[in-house]
Amino acid sequence: MRKPSAIGRVLLSEDVIAGRVRELAEQISADYSGAKELVMIGVLKGAFVFLADLARALTVPHRVDFIALSSYNKGAVATGAVRLIMDTRTSVAGSHVLIVEDIVDTGHTLEYLQRTFEARNPASLRSCVLLSKPDRRQVAVPVEYLGFEIPDLWVVGYGLDYADRFRTLPYIGALKREVYE
Ligand code: PRP
Repeated sequence: MRKPSAIGRVLLSEDVIAGRVRELAEQISADYSGAKELVMIGVLKGAFVFLADLARALTVPHRVDFIALSSYNKGAVATGAVRLIMDTRTSVAGSHVLIVEDIVDTGHTLEYLQRTFEARNPASLRSCVLLSKPDRRQVAVPVEYLGFEIPDLWVVGYGLDYADRFRTLPYIGALKREVYE
């Protein structure tokens, strides 16, 4: 497919993403090799592509559930308020839980998720995040499995959107500044 005109530079190609997802899956599979079951919690919408690829590359038993969140006032001024739109279907008490996110930006969403799941008495709780923008962080959050650190650009593709568009691009590209400024 031709690159949409709104996209400038391709930051991470399909091949580069696939290679890193494979590495993360190997590391997670090794770390949870003794665990009876791993519960992967995908954070909608952004994480659906990453979760699909990551989960299918795992060699340990796992199940998949989802949670949907939305943050208020995204963009230049993030307030940090997070709204729960849809909760998981199943209980995670006593299970090894892995939160799967597409990106950690200010950190407020992941902090909310970690607080929420910690209160549900999982056997363990870790986070796997594809992208991190360290320059944007407002709250420190632990990320046990990280794909890539990226600069502070508006990125789309591989699950990430601009006004709900570009989520199914196979690569991660930077949106041209004139599109969102
Ligand atoms: C994005 C992303 C993370 C969150 C990270 O979600 O998927 O959940 O923002 O930002 P933070 O670290 O500043 O909290 P968004 O609210 O854009 O929703 P979406 O996943 O449905 O696109």
